[in-house]
Amino acid sequence: MTIPAPTHSLRPALTAEISARTGLTEQVIETLVHRFYGKIAADPVLGPIFAERITDWPPHLARMTAFWSSVALMTGRYHGAPVPKHMNLPVTWDHFDRWLDIFRATALETCTPEGAALVIDRAERIARSLHMATQDAQRAGVPVLR
Ligand code: HEM
Repeated sequence: MTIPAPTHSLRPALTAEISARTGLTEQVIETLVHRFYGKIAADPVLGPIFAERITDWPPHLARMTAFWSSVALMTGRYHGAPVPKHMNLPVTWDHFDRWLDIFRATALETCTPEGAALVIDRAERIARSLHMATQDAQRAGVPVLR
């Protein structure tokens, strides 16, 4: 007789382990996202780039909370494709650097040192790959929307 393999996901155990190790929870991530985009919206350089494209903030904040929940807590809550959304933005590495500075400061004031280290590491990696995508698009001559 074959015994069926368990079909339940390992995700809840993984999420619990990450949470115990870093202090990150859905609540902490929601606070991080809301504080971060509050600062971004008020930033003189980055604020206008977002303001031109995001008129309805609550759905964006909900999407970003799901994104960070997936990236940091491995919950699989985000189903989207960030790269195309960034490819035609009028940005250089200086914009990503500024984004990262604000993100690091917000993570350090919101999370435990272990939690901040995890989300900052992920943000730095993703920022580099999004920057590469914008450079590829600019090199390929895709018109930049300003
Ligand atoms: C210069 C830096 C950045 C700018 C100006 C920027 C701008 C934006 C804008 C305007 C949107 C909304 C796009 C739309 O709905 O049409 C967006 C979405 C998003 N951004 Fe960024 N972003 C930046 C960096 C980053 C970084 C570093 C990350 C990840 C660590 C990130 C993750 C996302 C995600 C996940 C979305 C949602 C995509 C979706 O619709 O599913 N962004 N960003």
